[in-house]
Parts: sequence; C-alpha cells; structure tokens
Amino acid sequence: MAQQVRGVIARAKGEPVRIETITVPDPGPGEAVVKVQACGVCHTDLHYREGGINDDFPFLLGHEAAGVVESVGEGVTEVAPGDFVILNWRAVCGQCRACKRGRPQYCFATHNAKQKMTLADGTELAPALGIGAFAEKTLVAAGQCTKVDPAASPAAAGLLGCGVMAGLGAAINTADVAAGSSVAVIGCGGVGVSAIQGARLKGAAEIVAVDPVASRREAALRFGATQAVGPDELPDINQRLTAGEGFDYVFEVVGKSATARKAYEATRRGGTLCVVGAGAMDDQVQFNMFELFFDEKRILPSLYGGGDVLQSYERAIALWRAGRVDLEGMITHRVQLAEINEALEQMRSGVALRTCIEI
Ligand SMILES: NC(=O)c1ccc[n+]([C@@H]2O[C@H](COP(=O)([O-])OP(=O)(O)OC[C@H]3O[C@@H](n4cnc5c(N)ncnc54)[C@H](O)[C@@H]3O)[C@@H](O)[C@H]2O)c1
Ligand SMILES: [Zn+2]
Ligand SMILES: [Zn+2]
Repeated sequence: MAQQVRGVIARAKGEPVRIETITVPDPGPGEAVVKVQACGVCHTDLHYREGGINDDFPFLLGHEAAGVVESVGEGVTEVAPGDFVILNWRAVCGQCRACKRGRPQYCFATHNAKQKMTLADGTELAPALGIGAFAEKTLVAAGQCTKVDPAASPAAAGLLGCGVMAGLGAAINTADVAAGSSVAVIGCGGVGVSAIQGARLKGAAEIVAVDPVASRREAALRFGATQAVGPDELPDINQRLTAGEGFDYVFEVVGKSATARKAYEATRRGGTLCVVGAGAMDDQVQFNMFELFFDEKRILPSLYGGGDVLQSYERAIALWRAGRVDLEGMITHRVQLAEINEALEQMRSGVALRTCIEI
C-alpha cells in the first residue's frame, strides 16, 4: 500500500522550503522503497531551490543519503529488504556501449524510478537528482541502491552519495593528481574539502585552499590543505609557490564562470583544470582560441567523481575504515528534518562544512 511520509518540498524559486506529507507508492518492477536514515545538505539542493537546475517545481529535495531498503518490486535481485545502502543519482542500464566497455559512468540509458511520488493532492514531485531523500522514505530505481558495509555510519555513508564522492573522485579518478605536485582548490565546501582529502591521499606536495569564508579556510587546513587564502590572494600565492607559472592542478569547486576563468588562469601550461562545480545553464565561460591551443591546459570536467560509482563507494569506505579519509569530521552540524531551512542557511553562509539531516 502507498505510504504517507514527511518530506522537504521546494514549491517555487527562492522560497523557503516546507515539510509536507508526500505519498510514496509501493515499489513497482525494478524499484525499491528506502527508509532514509541520513541525508547531507549539498549545494546542489540550493541550486534546485533557486531554480538553477530546471523549473520542474515542486522538488522533493535531498540527494546525499544512506538508509535501509524497506521493500523491493518485482524482478529486483540486486538488493533486498534490510540491506544498508547508499543512494546514487542514477541506475545504469548494464547493456549499452558504455556499460559493456566497463565505463558505466558514461551509460547512455540511466534511469530513476518510473512511478512518481506525489503531494497529498496528487501533484507529481520531481526528486532532486532522482533521489529525493530529505524524506522519511523515498522511491528509487533499485539500481540506485548500492549495498555497502553496514559498519559505516549512515551520516558518513550518506556523504559518499554525493559531495565526498564528487570531490574525492575528482582528485583520484579524473585529475589523477601526481605525487609531489602543486594543487589549488577553489571553493572549499564539502566537495572542495573532499578534493583536498583526495589530493593529499595522492601525495600532492602543496595544496592551496581558496575560499572567501574564514571558517571554510580553517576546515580546509584541517583536512590537508597546506595553505589557505582568500580569492584575492590567489595571484600572490601563485607567484610565491610557482613563480607565477601556475599550479599543476586547479580544481574549480564553486560552479561559476568567474571562478572557472580564475582557475584556468592559475593553471600552469600543460597543467590540469578540473571542473567540479555545477553551474547554471546560462553562465558562459570564455576562452580565446589562441590560449586554448597554445597553453595546452587540460580542462577535465568531473561528474560524480568520474569513476564507476560502485567501485568508488567501496574504495572510499575502505579508505575511511583505514582512517585515511575523514568523513565524520566533515559533518559539523546534525539537525532534524524540520530544521531544513536553517540547514540550507548554514550551507549558504558557510557556517557548516556539511550539515547532516538525521531522519
Ligand atoms: N561534479 C559533481 O558531480 C558535483 C557533485 C556535488 C556537488 N557539485 C557542485 O560542487 C559545488 C560545491 O558544492 P558544495 O556542496 O561543496 O558547496 P558549498 O556551498 O558548501 O561550497 C562552495 C564554496 O565555494 C566558496 N566560494 C564562493 N565564491 C568563491 C570564490 N569566488 N572563490 C573561492 N571560493 C568561493 C564558498 O565560500 C563555499 O565555501 C556546487 O556547485 C555543487 O553544485 C558538483
Ligand atoms: Zn550533491
Ligand atoms: Zn548503460
């Protein structure tokens, strides 16, 4: 039977979000209902609320989550009720050229649950990134549930569902940071700090954190940055550390054309600009045709950690168990579902590195 649970709904652009009763249908073929235990607040939830992703309001927010499978639909074999899972954005098809090549992250036919969760009046909801986990329960495609080691706490495992996976993976998989190299990370929220953790694991010599917010710079230093500066100081530190030649790797983790441009300029010739920030469709970044070819800077976008999600979760959990990646330390605030507006504000102001909604 369909169930009524509480969830966080963004009804209109820029408006405060509200807790509302939502209807979660029983899982159909290939679907699962997951009892959410923890969901981190990622900047992408704010992008949704601000209408920066698309206009498919009302959104059911939340997408950085872990929980327990409650029920599964017909034909589901990969997970069973009781399994502890991380929710990933999209289930892959397993059949297309990308999947067959062993590159499921480039799957041409990813999918989410087919049935819709709804508001009490029947209005269909658009779950953030096909997940919608600021809710007591959510309906997803079974392939979005990745069974992981239940030793990981739900709050820590949840972070792997988005921000940590994105940042860690950008450094490890996409940029493949070389030992002894120089790195700058522009934007030090949960995702940027995860990129810093990844760069440290890969043996980067210098890791410069760049952020206008002092508490974020302090956090970056705790997680492996060797220096932390405000955005205006980037040219200076570039001069001091690299004689102005530029960093070997620069990570853009804000999602704005202006910072992407600054990141490009701070990258050395032949170096790597790794684009992790998710920006708006109408925010254009400019490169001229001379510099693009002449400086041979590699521009590497990184979506969801740039690797196979299943392998990446396992690897991140192994690193966390060995004490080489700090997940708990990234959670600076823990709140209940009802405090979601405060949680979004904590993210916007930078007071929190990551706020976890415990459900
Ligand atoms: N690539 C992916 O798969 C992926 C996954 C998750 C999130 N994201 C995106 O990554 C970005 C960061 O997410 P987050 O959750 O860490 O957000 P966040 O809001 O916690 O962090 C962003 C940081 O950027 C800083 N910042 C703002 N302007 C800056 C400037 N001019 N120079 C330097 N720093 C500046 C802010 O002070 C803040 O600390 C967002 O755009 C988000 O949508 C991408
Ligand atoms: Zn996210
Ligand atoms: Zn596929």
